[in-house]
Amino acid sequence: MIKFLDVQQLNARFESAFKAEFSKFLNTGQCILGNKLLQFEKEFAEYCGAKHCVGVASGLDAITLLCKGYIELGKLKLGDEVLVPANTYIASILGVINAGLIPVFIDPANDSFNISAENIEKQISSKSKMILAVHLYGELAEMKGINVLAKKHGLLVIEDAAQAHGAVDVNGIKAGNLSDGGAFSFYPSKNLGALGDGGAITTNDSALFKVIMKLRNYGVSEKYKNDIKGVNSRLDELQAAFLSIKLKQLDADNSKRRVIAKHYFEQINNDKITFPNYNVSDSHVFHVFVIRCKNRSMLQQYLLKNGIQTVIHYPIPPHKQKALKEYSYLKLPITEQIHEEVLSLPISPIQTIKDTEKIVSILNKF
Ligand SMILES: Cc1ncc(COP(=O)(O)O)c(C=O)c1O
Repeated sequence: MIKFLDVQQLNARFESAFKAEFSKFLNTGQCILGNKLLQFEKEFAEYCGAKHCVGVASGLDAITLLCKGYIELGKLKLGDEVLVPANTYIASILGVINAGLIPVFIDPANDSFNISAENIEKQISSKSKMILAVHLYGELAEMKGINVLAKKHGLLVIEDAAQAHGAVDVNGIKAGNLSDGGAFSFYPSKNLGALGDGGAITTNDSALFKVIMKLRNYGVSEKYKNDIKGVNSRLDELQAAFLSIKLKQLDADNSKRRVIAKHYFEQINNDKITFPNYNVSDSHVFHVFVIRCKNRSMLQQYLLKNGIQTVIHYPIPPHKQKALKEYSYLKLPITEQIHEEVLSLPISPIQTIKDTEKIVSILNKF
């Protein structure tokens, strides 16, 4: 069986380095908010090209805390509207809602999985205060157009970069540094994944950074002095130490993902399959390789019968989830169609050429 993703094998590459860090960790007794977190925050900010990084407990918290940070600074207020992609993982939407803001769902451009400036502009109202761009599946959203639009209308822009660690635009600027603030997830299956939950915020805004540093730790400015109503959302020392080890491998891993993606683009030859957009640049880090097929469930079963595991990202759009039933009346035809047709093929930095060739050959016979 070719697994969709083998997290155990992905991490096995770092086993001895992890064990060495774990031994050091046991000797320090510092579990929370110590030097390992500071070090990782510095490294990840540098990697993204941003001034600041705050390690938090998850990608969802990273989005929520970015929003709450702007509320604390008075740049947003409860009930303000945030323009969000309808085609995304539900966490993007929940992050906005958790902060007391209102999501306005935008259908993607016809030929893309991501939102376009053109589609966002149609839905801007006097209540709109921010755009949340999502680099879905690892592909940068159209940030240039989105930032121009935001400037024109006086909107903030944040990025959900949970699936796009290391994606770079044409000017060499990385995900997380293409807006006012970036939110990352280090969920174990991500391109940069921890050995548990984790997340981070990147920003060049020093006031935002300072307020989020407080928010993630009960609103504390100094021990037992609470300035604002914060939460407990801190990236563990141990996870930060593991992430520092894995960060060194991130660019090489993303390159390996692109090699597999390129192989799929060049070798899959089947009219029933539609490819994702790709401009052959480093703006896509192929967190997942998502094809479309009208007979998706038949294709998925066929692949499974032939020893290939696939995943659907995602089967139900956020506005059709029971949890968000207040939005179920919305008609978002492109999003709804995407959810009927998408299928993610195996892709990872440790996938062998032999497995990739087998996947291609089986797909070509469907
Ligand atoms: C696009 C997107 N946003 C946000 C998240 C939330 O991240 P986490 O699971 O770390 O909370 C995820 C991953 O789960 C994601 O894929």
